Amino acid sequence: MSATPPDDSSPSLTRRGFLQSALAAAAATKTPAALAEAAAQAPAAAPPAPIPRAPAQAVRLNINGKDHQLQLEPRVTLLDALREYIGMTGAKKGCDRGQCGACTVLVNGRRINSCLTLAVMHEGDAITTIEGIAQGDNLSALQAAFIEHDAFQCGYCTPGQICSATACISELRAGTASAVSANVAKAPALSDDEIRERMSGNICRCGAYPNIVIAIRQVASKPA
Ligand code: FES
Ligand code: FES
Repeated sequence: MSATPPDDSSPSLTRRGFLQSALAAAAATKTPAALAEAAAQAPAAAPPAPIPRAPAQAVRLNINGKDHQLQLEPRVTLLDALREYIGMTGAKKGCDRGQCGACTVLVNGRRINSCLTLAVMHEGDAITTIEGIAQGDNLSALQAAFIEHDAFQCGYCTPGQICSATACISELRAGTASAVSANVAKAPALSDDEIRERMSGNICRCGAYPNIVIAIRQVASKPA
């Protein structure tokens, strides 16, 4: 009697299943060295193209009444021009993205975040930094009030607070309305709410807000 050939169509051992298992086992046994060799033979990806840099250009900035001639790339912010190129470190870099107000300076009397504007945009403008707020050795009334009322702790936010408050008081005296003014057609009354609203772009991590408001209110309540 002849022997019966194995049934290779059974689900437990098919010819196809056997070959697939054998190939998977061969792949799994490749050594790391073999894999590294295969990777080395693969064509290398092209390196990223270098980002073209705009050449530096001549820029004249008027800061605290004095002209500064600089060579700046167009991408340099006013804050970096002040701190890194001129060496005026009064304006502080807190966030570098317009969220904290530590970099506040005055441009033509209006406060701006110097981290959010490019230096090349300010040729011909009158820029005032904290270094230019005092008159020589005489502190401004606001600087004196900040000291009198302990309106700071670590002091990191203080240059921005004082520049911002200087413009805030000018706005109040000019009768400029704010988002909390009851009647925008009338000059706003001096109040803590008005001061808080107008100073809301200047963050103080030490929480010196109550004394900052007191100092600003003291100066704003007096004649210019
Ligand atoms: S550093 Fe400019 S707003 Fe924070
Ligand atoms: S005094 Fe420290 S962050 Fe304002």
